[in-house]
Amino acid sequence: NTKYRSFPKVQLADRTWPDRVITQAPIWMSTDLRDGNQALFEPMNAERKMRLFKKLVDIGFKEIEVAFPSASQTEFDFVRTLIEGGHVPADVTIEVLTQAREHLIRRTMASLYGARRAIVHVYNATARPFREIVFGMSPDQVIAMAVSSVKLVRELAEAHPETEWVLEYSPEAFTGTELEFARDICDAVVETWGATPERKVIINLPATVEMATPNIYADQIEWMHRNLARREAVVLSVHPHNDRGSAIAAAELALMAGAERIEGCLFGNGERTGNVDLVTLALNLYTQGIDPGLDFSNINDIARTVEDCIRLPIHPRHPYVGDLVFTAFSGSHQDAIKKGLAHQRPDAFWEVPYLPIDPADLGRSYDAIIRVNSQSGKGGIAYLLESAYGLSLPRRLLVEFSGVVQRHADATGAEIMPDELWRMFSEEYLEP
Ligand code: KIV
Ligand code: ZN
Repeated sequence: NTKYRSFPKVQLADRTWPDRVITQAPIWMSTDLRDGNQALFEPMNAERKMRLFKKLVDIGFKEIEVAFPSASQTEFDFVRTLIEGGHVPADVTIEVLTQAREHLIRRTMASLYGARRAIVHVYNATARPFREIVFGMSPDQVIAMAVSSVKLVRELAEAHPETEWVLEYSPEAFTGTELEFARDICDAVVETWGATPERKVIINLPATVEMATPNIYADQIEWMHRNLARREAVVLSVHPHNDRGSAIAAAELALMAGAERIEGCLFGNGERTGNVDLVTLALNLYTQGIDPGLDFSNINDIARTVEDCIRLPIHPRHPYVGDLVFTAFSGSHQDAIKKGLAHQRPDAFWEVPYLPIDPADLGRSYDAIIRVNSQSGKGGIAYLLESAYGLSLPRRLLVEFSGVVQRHADATGAEIMPDELWRMFSEEYLEP
């Protein structure tokens, strides 16, 4: 294959991330209303954006990227409505994105005036193909572009001291950028902003396109973590996209490698294959005993709101939320789940086979866990008859009745619901 190259390994002596475990939740930043929104057939209108904003607040997000204000009047107006309508709770910070260009920065800053606290997210592309092919710029010109943009943000921020301003900078296409160059441009930004440990800059390192295995991303993050000149004045953030399908793994390894903040979207909406899915990430932490600081105790309600706002369905096998993820079709799974549920004590660690999380923690029920179809065995049939009709069959009768059910299921190919099971049982054994 001469068309593609393997991704070069990062030269990182004594990498430490493989020996680390995640012990606390990162700072979460939802970009559903920006990166998620810009990837829709039809971007959300103000009403849908507001509904999703409120849902994000309810879930517990404290940083929310709400718009790309210089992209359209709708986007600009949405930020004004949030601020002027008093819709932003005191503990929530809104964030907006702008390219590193003077007129766009002026327009973006104007959308934020009057906010209590705001994150201004400036980006320019740093990878070689962008520099040379897209923009025709030298590395020094790309750095100068970032520096002059940050100077302008700083100047405009100083003229509006009523707002607490936070700067975020993203070297777009970071994963394809030479690490020394990424470090130099980030150092220049941190210096220009005059960042201190009390007034940190968010340095966000996007996998704009996921280009390599997750361990490479982790190495890139650890390299930056160790080589930034003023690490103590930086909040190190990651922004994985899911082009290779490994954004969750990339984000988790990035946390081990030194990142402390993650940007993504609910259920993995976002450009192309999506941004990293913040729900799965948060619940992965939860099932490791770490409080994610986000509330998914009514996940179905969140899912329906998101589907309604973005007009895209969630896959039935999506981790934690998909319609089928707490459903067992095979008999051996059904039997193990039944025994696990009966054995589980409320104050003990969760150890029900085949269920990585208690569905009740997500506001979901056990009702649909056991179904009977041509793949099921006796366990599922026993469970359904017992839970729906209080009927506990002696073993020999259960074996015999399972044969009846199996033949019926083979013939119809359909799932057998409890009322149908009862009808078959009555016909076979109760009716004269
Ligand atoms: O994916 C990306 O690089 C972005 C940046 C603008 C942060 O969305
Ligand atoms: Zn992105």
